[in-house]
Amino acid sequence: MNPVGVNRCVCEIFNDNRRCHQSITFDEVTLADRPANVHPNNVSLETYITKNIKLKGCGIVSAAMDTVTEKELALALAKMGGLGIIHRNMSAKEQAKMIRWVRKKINYVGMIETPICYKETQYLANVQKDITDNEWTFTSFPIINESGELTGLLTRDETAFVENNNPQLKDIMIIADKLITTQSTDNKEAYQRMKAHKVKKMPVIDNNNKLIGMYVWNDLKKDIVKENNFSLDSDGHFLVGAAIGVGTREYYRAKILIEAGCKVIVIDTSHGACTPVVQMIEYLKEKYSIDVIAGNIASAESALYLLVDPVTNKIRKYLPDAIKVGISIGSICTTRLVTGHGMPQLTAIYEVWKMISTFGLKIPIIADGGIRYPGDIVKALAVGASGVMMGGVFGGTAESPGTLVIKDGVKYKHVRGMGARSALEERNGSRMRYLNSTGMNTETDTNVLTTEQKQKVVPEGIEGLTKYRGTVEDVMTNFLGGVRLGLAHSGAANIDQFRDNVIMWKQSTAGIIEGKPHDLEHIRE
Ligand code: XMP
Repeated sequence: MNPVGVNRCVCEIFNDNRRCHQSITFDEVTLADRPANVHPNNVSLETYITKNIKLKGCGIVSAAMDTVTEKELALALAKMGGLGIIHRNMSAKEQAKMIRWVRKKINYVGMIETPICYKETQYLANVQKDITDNEWTFTSFPIINESGELTGLLTRDETAFVENNNPQLKDIMIIADKLITTQSTDNKEAYQRMKAHKVKKMPVIDNNNKLIGMYVWNDLKKDIVKENNFSLDSDGHFLVGAAIGVGTREYYRAKILIEAGCKVIVIDTSHGACTPVVQMIEYLKEKYSIDVIAGNIASAESALYLLVDPVTNKIRKYLPDAIKVGISIGSICTTRLVTGHGMPQLTAIYEVWKMISTFGLKIPIIADGGIRYPGDIVKALAVGASGVMMGGVFGGTAESPGTLVIKDGVKYKHVRGMGARSALEERNGSRMRYLNSTGMNTETDTNVLTTEQKQKVVPEGIEGLTKYRGTVEDVMTNFLGGVRLGLAHSGAANIDQFRDNVIMWKQSTAGIIEGKPHDLEHIRE
């Protein structure tokens, strides 16, 4: 991989800050436009997020939070060139099951595996009631008999001509003999077959005529276009990562995750510069051939600790394949209030980058937390990050596991910090992350806390509602588009060029206000 360089003008800002112990974050800098003949459509967003893993989607990784990344979000993100890290507030077996689920989906790209179907003896009113009750936006359903065999298909066209009666589905469906079906789950074959026959729905059946899926033309077409940007692992499956904690108990978790096909593991702690993290890096790197992301840290000294053994003063034998940077900057985080510690994120990224580059090492930095806009990603890349992790942003998507809440007609999703009271009270994974003083042994105890233990919990996070942002695809399209525009403004066709070209300025408080929408009411996004 390429060494990550940082422009001299960026170094000047941060080295000056360093002399007067000043730390800064996203809003306090801005980038100057440069003469450019690069069209945003021609900008490449490829970047290494670990020593061996290159992503096409600008190094965007989703946070290992229990209201953010489970299997559905990880799959959607892998399809958009990003990477999902499955959280660890669940048993190792459940986590491994999610890894397997995501990886296996590569066999069914573009296909709906469990289409909603109806029995031929049901009535049209049954279908229409379900569509209304569930607010479904689709109107085509395979029809099966009692043995699960495909007997027909119901589409909008068949129901359109029904008047004043409630027919059984078998009386209005297109009968199976007249349908174009397939037994193949190869999306390219499906694409050609549907195109040749000009059909928008194609049921998939097995040798015994049992329904096993359905292709829908519009979804298939979208997936085929996206395919070039998929994040795939070395076996050609969808790439998906998982979080683990520290300590010998987590060896088992690592083992079964790796057996499930996980190729990238995040050692997920709130304070990564400590012996247990170093021991876990050593253990994983010695025993397995996987990429290990370690964190979180936010200072040069902590970076030094992960790189150099303080006893021998030599570079450690086993180094992480990426370092995750960010302490007390997350949207749901209260660590700075509770502990007085934390570092504004741009300074943190630069400080860690500087320490890594002092040793001539090529360890990518993943900037974790605090990202609100695509422009924040552009700034993180400018100061030395190779990728970013986002929690709150993905927490607001359709695929996140958080509950959907509608308040005054506006959609929200529930998000909580991994250090929020409810997470600490309910889940051992959260307590391990925040080393919480409940008096319990996180190495051996289970999830359940006594009342007395609950009283000792010290939250380092909060929970709340975040605005619903649509699907992961919507969010990624918006963020990737923004970053592409950002790179083009600096005259760069890729991230390396961008780091060479970028001109960064600090901005005044008035500049910060000026840079956000102002003097406008009834704002529409
Ligand atoms: P964003 O801003 O993207 O940040 O929502 C996500 C990151 O925040 C971290 N995280 C926490 N930090 N208390 C904290 O101090 C918490 O309860 C908490 N939960 C998550 C984590 O690094 C995540 O990726």
